Amino acid sequence: MNILVTGGTGFIGSHTVVELINAGHTATAVDNLVNSSEEAISRIEKITGKKVPFFKADLRDRDAMKKVMESSRFDCCMHFAGLKAVGESVVKPLEYYDNNLNGTLVLLEMLREYDVKSIIFSSSATVYGTPQFIPITEEHPKGECSNPYGKTKSMIEDILVDLNTADLKNGNEKPWNIVLLRYFNPIGAHSSGLLGENPSGIPNNLMPYITQVAVGKLHHLSVYGNDYETHDGTGVRDYIHVVDLAKGHVKALKAIEENWGVKVYNLGTGKGYSVLDIVNSFISENGVDVPYVICDRRPGDLAEYYSDPGKAEKELGWKAELDIKDMVRDSWNFQKNNPNGF
Ligand code: NAD
Ligand code: WQD
Repeated sequence: MNILVTGGTGFIGSHTVVELINAGHTATAVDNLVNSSEEAISRIEKITGKKVPFFKADLRDRDAMKKVMESSRFDCCMHFAGLKAVGESVVKPLEYYDNNLNGTLVLLEMLREYDVKSIIFSSSATVYGTPQFIPITEEHPKGECSNPYGKTKSMIEDILVDLNTADLKNGNEKPWNIVLLRYFNPIGAHSSGLLGENPSGIPNNLMPYITQVAVGKLHHLSVYGNDYETHDGTGVRDYIHVVDLAKGHVKALKAIEENWGVKVYNLGTGKGYSVLDIVNSFISENGVDVPYVICDRRPGDLAEYYSDPGKAEKELGWKAELDIKDMVRDSWNFQKNNPNGF
């Protein structure tokens, strides 16, 4: 298939472009580079040996997006583009609502105009809110998101479902074809060391913080609380290797091809690891030190959550294959080779 990838130079988008090409698809990337670099395209091309059309464009810029849409006949859009820093979204709600919601609305208008009514959306486990049960299945009700970032993910899901509902009510034979992929905690990097996570400023997320401590850019890791009701007192999450996540998108094309409608899948491993599990695994696998201090809990953090990824396995034939050792090794390999990102 021929895929339009928004956010295609970002962390997850760039890995997905590689896996799409590996699976024999073609991809065009669009990104405004607010949180990534065009260098990602050269690296994708180096890994795959294929040219990747790239447009530097903001999704909210209709004229620029028309040029993108006219460049090729797309079968499906994978929509990664958005701002994603939870803390920043609390400080800059207007910027987050504008970027994520208006960006998506303009994109959807364009897709409709050019009759590309299939979209795979980067959603998040954050839409479940505080879990009522664990492991979290797709039947778990959506919950209250505590920050504007999470609210944009939840609202975009609702917008996409409404598009499909409207088409069904109008008797449209080909209603919007929508896959909502709810990611858990993506970490890791491409095994080549050429692609990886490249956050601007001081990282908020655990793994980029660890790698920057290990490479000497940050002094120590603050472990946010060791008094949770978990096996070692630190927070437990479902970390998933970004290459497995990328492959999940390729498999999701099956859901796009098979029937028109709305489909929701968790993308996780189904296993929970604590902060100290990750730190200790990183140290032992890579042979580098990660000094840390135990601090107070981070406000808003949950003790523990992880997915039930069974639906994606059953319906898409997708299952995460890489384990925690692969995740910590590849994260370090990328950071080591790119101490200042790219
Ligand atoms: P990322 O920041 O690396 O990639 C997002 C890309 O979107 C960036 O390259 C950025 O420059 C681009 N972008 C932002 N606003 C844009 C706009 N208006 N127009 C064009 N491009 C724009 O983030 P990522 O980790 O690769 O995340 C990709 C998607 O997955 C995001 O939608 C994110 O919310 C979602 N997600 C990420 C995580 C995670 O932990 N990384 C978890 C769940 C969901
Ligand atoms: C993981 C664990 C922290 C940093 C966030 C978003 C979520 C999703 C993924 C997009 C927690 C602990 C962290 C540090 C630490 N993103 N930690 N020291 O909070 O599970 O999820 O990213 O949709 O919406 O909320 O991920 O990587 O920030 O934290 O001890 O310096 O690591 O307390 O237990 P989180 P995280």
